[in-house]
Amino acid sequence: MDFYGKDFLRILDFSEEELRYMLAVSAKFKEMKKQGINHKYFPQKNIAILFEKTSTRTRCSFEVAGYDLGMGVTYLDPTGSQMGHKETIADTARVLARIYDGIEYRGFDQKVVDDLAKYSSVPVWNGLTDECHPTQALGDFLTIQEHFGKLQGLTVAFVGDTRNNTANSLMAMSAKMGVNFIACGPNELRPTEEIVKKCNEVAEKNNCTVTVTNDINTLSGVADVIYTDVWLSMGEAKEKWGERIELLKPYQVNKELMSKMKDTTIFLHCLPSFHNTDTTIAKEIESTFGLKEMEVTDEVFESEKSLVFDQAENRMHTIKAVMYLTLYKKEEQ
Ligand code: CP
Ligand code: NVA
Repeated sequence: MDFYGKDFLRILDFSEEELRYMLAVSAKFKEMKKQGINHKYFPQKNIAILFEKTSTRTRCSFEVAGYDLGMGVTYLDPTGSQMGHKETIADTARVLARIYDGIEYRGFDQKVVDDLAKYSSVPVWNGLTDECHPTQALGDFLTIQEHFGKLQGLTVAFVGDTRNNTANSLMAMSAKMGVNFIACGPNELRPTEEIVKKCNEVAEKNNCTVTVTNDINTLSGVADVIYTDVWLSMGEAKEKWGERIELLKPYQVNKELMSKMKDTTIFLHCLPSFHNTDTTIAKEIESTFGLKEMEVTDEVFESEKSLVFDQAENRMHTIKAVMYLTLYKKEEQ
């Protein structure tokens, strides 16, 4: 399998075998890191990581994975480059590709990361757009695989804003890995027909299903993984909070919902999460709407069923695998 020079823009761009291989390499890197085995394979390489939206996990994962692979890393924050304001995406891509060996990009429109990839001669990695969050789905599936010891035949239910970036990539990854996927949320926030159709075609091939429903009761005794994400994503207008809360309150992941699942069901969340009122935004929500917890209750978030911090750690190991595979050229080593 040769990934050299490829971009990592969306899950559906990769075959089942390639994605499985990425998970296997991620697990290998995790083991090496735990055992303290040096893997600074690319001391001559440098990468640029561009963020037009804020980040904790993705930024830190790219930085540390880059350092662990022996590379130099330049972080550009939303105000730190000319891109988009004074310089086109095409020009930025061509400049960065002359200086760096790989480029990570987090932003709004998927077209920007697609264009960066089109004009750049080095690999471009998608660190989240409004449309998808592919490195997140890889980290999630490493977590699920580690926990259950398998993937095929499991059922992942994404509960909440089912048309967001995280849900889209999770649906694609589930279909590829033979995992049944249920998108459970209000009709107003359904995934697009286009993505559901594409994922359904993939799922059929892999003997699994993609279901979209507004009926939370259908998850009872069925889901192996209950997954949720924030009710309002980065880049969406703050004014939408009220409407979103009304739509999504019935889909909160709480003890009552979890008690209807299997004994073995786990809880996942890409994070950051509004599970208490200890952040500025959560405090504002509490004072405006009287809500102390949103997409998940503190009780579930802090429970034994919650693997959210394993998931966060796995972002780093999987991102390392993606960078390694797309930068590794046999004859260079
Ligand atoms: N899950 C995730 O992408 O987190 P950050 O926004 O902190 O990178
Ligand atoms: N859907 C969330 C994911 C954050 C990692 C957002 O886009 O804000």
